[in-house]
Amino acid sequence: MTTKDEKLYIVMVGLPSQGKSTVAYRLKDIFTKNDIPTRIFNNGQLRRQYARLKDTWAAEFFHPDNAEATELRKRFAIINMNWARKYVNSKGQVAVLDATNVSQERRNLINQCLNDHPILFIECINEDEEIVDMSITLKVRTPEFGGLDEAHAISEFKKRIEYYRMIYSPLAKERNYIRMDSLHNRILEERLTDQLPLYSRIRDCLVTDVVKSLFLIRHTETFFNTEDRIGGDSDLTPKGIEQAHALARFFRNKKISYIFTSEKKRTIQTAAPIRALQNDCTIVPLKEFDEIYSGICEGMSYDEIQRFMPDVYSARKADKYNYSYPRGEGYNSMKERIKIGIKKAFYLNRKPDNIMIIGHRAVNRMILSHFLYRRQEDVPYIYVPQDKFYHIVATQDRKVFELKKYQ
Ligand code: F6P
Repeated sequence: MTTKDEKLYIVMVGLPSQGKSTVAYRLKDIFTKNDIPTRIFNNGQLRRQYARLKDTWAAEFFHPDNAEATELRKRFAIINMNWARKYVNSKGQVAVLDATNVSQERRNLINQCLNDHPILFIECINEDEEIVDMSITLKVRTPEFGGLDEAHAISEFKKRIEYYRMIYSPLAKERNYIRMDSLHNRILEERLTDQLPLYSRIRDCLVTDVVKSLFLIRHTETFFNTEDRIGGDSDLTPKGIEQAHALARFFRNKKISYIFTSEKKRTIQTAAPIRALQNDCTIVPLKEFDEIYSGICEGMSYDEIQRFMPDVYSARKADKYNYSYPRGEGYNSMKERIKIGIKKAFYLNRKPDNIMIIGHRAVNRMILSHFLYRRQEDVPYIYVPQDKFYHIVATQDRKVFELKKYQ
């Protein structure tokens, strides 16, 4: 190994559902765009191919005392290492080994087998139990668990995590490593002993909130909208249903794997026809995207608020961003939950391409302000129509903000 080495192995480390594959895809994406040939070698994929012959979704397959299965998993790891080695020594520059790799024993084997170029280990850690739980729920809906009752699949998957925990030893001895908080994209600890190619690019990529392609949509017309009423949990009108179908037709040729909505009916009803025209798409309602809660004013029209609660009306008008409805919320007080919602959505949207959020007027303003600089006092006035949607791209080399018609 020379200090001038251009080739690199990246080895992912972490328990299942800690965001390893998402990080691996992000790295591959940024490298590929910069003409750095990169390939991901995923042990799980090999295992799932093998699953045709044997049920490898079962937790027992991952028990450290299951000698036969341990041997098999080691074989998958070695196959991938051999492929990775071949790849970087031919046309490839970076090979990413995507697997749990949580035991010291496994990492020693990797160090032994991949001794021709430097290795950077990246450990992903997400301690937010709620998000890990949601991530597991989405995982068990994949074909690997096909046909299995959801509760049973979740319990098997959780057991699998516990088995991995029994052999888990966090990175400490490796020459080059990064331990990162994969939910907040933060570096927790790093050690760099060798001169690694691409290190600053990798580091930068890990801490950047990349948006490859976000479609930010407001729910379509509701009965409350037609009466200018706020809050509540109104249904779509026939026009709103037609708008949702138009959205579905517009997006039918774009691959949407997940649609993140609020828990309100109007966003889920807007998402339903879109999902129906997709191949394999899941609606994920997140409470963080619920519309601003207007407390004692829920269900009132703006006109009624002005007439019956003039103090509320004028106080809000005076400082719309900082004002909170009595026993309700304001833009400012919503900020934190919206931020959490965005983190959740991006974490759960494992497929790196398009991400779709169907929210509400105030919610979408806050989401937009997360990506687009606006002075606080201007945020509550951002234009969020129901006949158009925002398309946002924010990568290291491309920024797009488009308001587009779907009909
Ligand atoms: O569509 C109406 C609505 O989503 C209400 O539920 C919400 O209170 C309002 O828009 C937010 O907009 P503004 O802050 O301009 O009142």
